[in-house]
Amino acid sequence: MPVLGIETSCDETGVAVYDGARGLLAHRLHSQIDTHARYGGVVPELASRDHIRKLAPLIREALTDAGISRHGLDGVAYTRGPGLAGALLVGAATARSLAYALDIPAAGIHHMEAHLLAPRLEADPPAFPFVALLVSGGHTMLVQVAGVGRYRLLGESVDDAAGEAFDKTAKLLGLGYPGGPAVEKAAREGDPKRFRFPRPMTDRPGLDFSFSGLKTHTLNTVQREGDDPQTRADVARAFQDAVIDTLAIKCRRALQATATPRLVIAGGVGANAALRERLAEVAEAHHARVFYPRPEFCTDNGAMVAYAGHLRLAAGESEPTAFDVAPRWDLESLSPPSGESRK
Ligand code: KG4
Ligand code: ZN
Repeated sequence: MPVLGIETSCDETGVAVYDGARGLLAHRLHSQIDTHARYGGVVPELASRDHIRKLAPLIREALTDAGISRHGLDGVAYTRGPGLAGALLVGAATARSLAYALDIPAAGIHHMEAHLLAPRLEADPPAFPFVALLVSGGHTMLVQVAGVGRYRLLGESVDDAAGEAFDKTAKLLGLGYPGGPAVEKAAREGDPKRFRFPRPMTDRPGLDFSFSGLKTHTLNTVQREGDDPQTRADVARAFQDAVIDTLAIKCRRALQATATPRLVIAGGVGANAALRERLAEVAEAHHARVFYPRPEFCTDNGAMVAYAGHLRLAAGESEPTAFDVAPRWDLESLSPPSGESRK
């Protein structure tokens, strides 16, 4: 049952074909980094226009790669939210029209559900239940995952998302956009001992995060110490160490609190190699295993949407032809795929 997946919630146009029996048949991605780089962040209207330009050709290419025609599709899945309204509408309108024309079902997918299920695309997938750390440009959350659609929010950021903090810090340091990879690269040359940034909200119990104070710390440090390349690298290192340490402390608490032996890391910040190393140590200390999607499926992509869509469509879930998008959407409001009973 091949399902077409479409991701257009932010600044990547992602398209993929996932088949229940044969797995991932194709995936294509167009990143808008070049479009937004000179503005230092995503410009929503430019994002929508670029999705309009790129989506149809990417769908054609993905179908060719998968070796099927559009008539071979059994369903279409698209990101319904959360995300930028205009960008979401491009994917939703395209997916719905295609499903209507082909007389096949369509399903609107929660972007964070897609992220947290992405490691299950890999050869050695995590079994349920697991704890998921979702760290992207828009979200930082710890979620207890009992099964598909069975999500309990353990904690989240009260202000900036982890990825957003990377992006803002990169901007302050003049490292360009997107910030995450740039800060990671600079941090490799940085001296870990020169500055120590705070680990926000780790001195009290709880699983919530706060990252907005770190950028003030970055700004103050740069203003005080100057912004020569070595200082920038040292600040990048201090910032990254603080974020990683904070995430590691909360993951440790979440594993303890839930007594779950599996930790899943998803979302763009999950591509950070230093974070991966650190969380591997945390998991080992708790006799837990850590699971990641491959780096290209950590950041936004169509494969995770096609996969989540396959799970929901195969269970018989689909929606009426009328559609909407959900720029803001509470993850805990989801239910298991229809057909499955809630245990
Ligand atoms: O999941 P994603 O592609 O898009 C959202 O849904 O937000 O995540 C993008 C975020 C950006 O903030 C980017 O700076 C961050 O992930 N990111 C990283 C790395 N690669 C991407 N942050 C830290 N280290 C990285 N290597
Ligand atoms: Zn994302």
